[in-house]
Amino acid sequence: MTSMSIRSAVRAVPGYRLAPHEARIKLDQNESPYDLPPELRERALARLQGASFNRYPDLHAERVRQRIAELEGWPEAGVVVAGGSNVLIQGLVILAGIGQRVLTVTPTFAVYALQANLLGADLTEVPLQGTEIPLDALLAELRHGTGVHFMTDPMAPTGNAIGAERVERLVRAGGDRWLSVIDEAYGPFAGSDHRELVRRAPGALSLRTLSKAFGLGGVRLGYALAAPEVAAELQKTVLPFSVSALQSAVAEVVLDDPTYVEARVQEAIRERERVARAIAALPGVRVFPSVANFLLLHVGDAAHTFASLLAQGVLVRRQDHLPGLEGCLRMSIGTPDENDAAVEALTRCQLQERHDQSATEVPGATR
Ligand SMILES: Cc1ncc(COP(=O)(O)O)c(C=O)c1O
Repeated sequence: MTSMSIRSAVRAVPGYRLAPHEARIKLDQNESPYDLPPELRERALARLQGASFNRYPDLHAERVRQRIAELEGWPEAGVVVAGGSNVLIQGLVILAGIGQRVLTVTPTFAVYALQANLLGADLTEVPLQGTEIPLDALLAELRHGTGVHFMTDPMAPTGNAIGAERVERLVRAGGDRWLSVIDEAYGPFAGSDHRELVRRAPGALSLRTLSKAFGLGGVRLGYALAAPEVAAELQKTVLPFSVSALQSAVAEVVLDDPTYVEARVQEAIRERERVARAIAALPGVRVFPSVANFLLLHVGDAAHTFASLLAQGVLVRRQDHLPGLEGCLRMSIGTPDENDAAVEALTRCQLQERHDQSATEVPGATR
C-alpha cells in the first residue's frame, strides 16, 4: 500500500509515459538521427578526459551560459541553463505557477501539465481547435488571474506553427500578470525565432534545447532566454551544481563549434517535405502540415499500424490516447534511408489493411 504521506496530487498523476521498444529504425522521440560529427565527439571526449571528477562543476553552468549568451546574442545575465528544458519547465511552474495559474492547450507537450499537477498549480488546458490554437479562448483565460502560460511554437505533437503574430498577441495579452513561455524546442526546423519579441516584452521567455537540432538528447542540456530580472528568479529554482561536469564538457565543445547544425536542419526540412509528400500519396493516411522535425499522421487504426510498423523494424509514437488525435501516430524525421524504410513499411501496412478490409467487405472472399 502506498504510504499515507504521499501527496494525493502526486498519486493522481500518471507520470510521463514512454513504452520502451527495441527497433532498427527509431523515430519515436523527435531526436536527431545523427550523433555528433566524429571530430567533435573526439574533442568532447578529450575535454572529459581533462575534467576533474572529484570536483564540483560550475555552480550554474557558467561556462556553458557564457557560450550560449554569445551564440544567441543575449545578455549572459538573461540566460538560465539546466539539464534539459524539462527541468526549466518544472522551474517555471515553481516560479510562477504554484499558488497561481498554469495555462496551456491540450494536447501539447505533456510535461507542462504533469509539472503543474505535481506541484499543485491551478491548471487550465484549453482544447485545440483541430490542430490550431484556440486563440480567443486563450485570450479570454489570460484576462483572469496570474501565472505561467506555456505555448509551443512549433507546436507538439501536431507540428504546426502558432506563428509570430498570434504569439505576440498572446504575450501582449499576458502583459506583466503572466509569464509567457515560448517553448522553441523545434524552432530551428521552422526557421522561427521569438528572441526579438522576448527582448521587447519583459513578461516573455524563450525556452530552448540542445536535444533536437543540436542532436544532444542524451547529454541533457536546455536553457531559457529572458530578461535578466526574470532569469535571476528562475535561476533560484534550478538546484545548485545540477548541470554536471560531463554535460558541460560536451556542451562547451559543441557550442564552440556549432557549424554542423545548419546542414542537418536543412536536411531534416528537405526530408520532412519529401516524406510528407510520399505519405500523403498513400490511401488511408492523412499527413498534418508540419514545420518541425516530425510528422503527425492520421492512420485510422493507430494500434494496428503501430504494431505493424514495429514488426517491420520501425518505431514511431502512438498519439491516439490524446484528445482529438484518435487514430494518430507521430514519426520523427530520420536519415534519408530510415525515412525510405519507414515510408515503405507504412505503404506495406496500408496495402495490407486495404486488402484485409476488402476481404471482409466481400462475403466469401478468400484471403
Ligand atoms: C515541446 C518540447 N519542449 C521541451 C522538450 C524537452 O526537451 P529537453 O530534452 O531539453 O528536456 C521536448 C522534448 O521532446 C518538447 O517536445
